[in-house]
Amino acid sequence: MPARWRQLIFTPLHTAVTLLLFVEVSVLAGLAAFPAVKGWLLLRDRLPLHGDARLLVLCVAAALGYFVFGLALLLLLPAARFVLLAPGTPEGRFPYLSWGAWRWASFNTLTLIYRFAFINWIRVTPLIALFHRLMGMRLGARVQFNTAVVADQNLITVGDDSVVGGDVTLVAHSAEAGELVTAPVRIGSRVTIGIMAVILPGCVIGDGATVAAGAVLAKGTVVGPGELWGGVPARCLARPAAAQASGAAGPAATGSAAGRDRR
Ligand SMILES: CC(C)(COP(=O)(O)OP(=O)(O)OC[C@H]1O[C@@H](n2cnc3c(N)ncnc32)[C@H](O)[C@@H]1OP(=O)(O)O)[C@@H](O)C(=O)NCCC(=O)NCCS
Repeated sequence: MPARWRQLIFTPLHTAVTLLLFVEVSVLAGLAAFPAVKGWLLLRDRLPLHGDARLLVLCVAAALGYFVFGLALLLLLPAARFVLLAPGTPEGRFPYLSWGAWRWASFNTLTLIYRFAFINWIRVTPLIALFHRLMGMRLGARVQFNTAVVADQNLITVGDDSVVGGDVTLVAHSAEAGELVTAPVRIGSRVTIGIMAVILPGCVIGDGATVAAGAVLAKGTVVGPGELWGGVPARCLARPAAAQASGAAGPAATGSAAGRDRR
């Protein structure tokens, strides 16, 4: 398609797709709300109470209904991946107006529905790991997610006993000069990703490594096993003592903490 035509249709098309997505979101949220609303209506019709006691029970039931809605969404959204032909983020480079970008957008819409509607209530519980697994993430045992900001789960791998800290951004896509660029992110076992860190596409983090609070791991960064990385953009702050001793780690150590030598 000629560039001028692409420029002309981009904003109207983008707006139309956004409105269409609102309809999709309404259908999915409505389906997930159905069991809770149905249950609440049944309770309202059969509750043998009157006055404030009745009002109180119905209020508690309505609040409980929100959690039933959240759990229903947890199962419904992963199933919707397949019904809506949005199984995951594709890997590669895609112009905004392309089938690949559409697949990315429609998959991440499902993730966004959960982020905006419920996910904060299940941070650091096995339920958030279940959600990411059902959305396609390859996930080890006992992984803790204390963040709502995760996308592109099918391109992300996390090993056993790792911690994705508070409000970390973990994504496998970036928008770059008119193109969507996506690449897998691989996080090993026993990795700690500190509070508010940002992990961008293509990053590989070795077993036992630590990413400091607030670090920004530029796209494609490779963090070796046991290393400590921090700062913006992140750089290696320390390597495992064993690697330094074998001479594999470059510059001499200047100190040590927690089995690492500072660079
Ligand atoms: C990076 C971190 C592991 C360092 O802890 P530590 O091993 O006790 O080391 P220190 O506090 O002695 O700091 C060591 C060096 O790292 C630097 N540093 C510490 N925190 C840093 C950060 N967030 N960003 C960049 N550098 C940092 C220090 O300035 C120090 O530098 P120096 O050796 O040049 O003086 C820790 O500060 C951190 O960010 N932990 C993340 C924990 C977390 O968020 N977990 C998730 C919970 S939800």
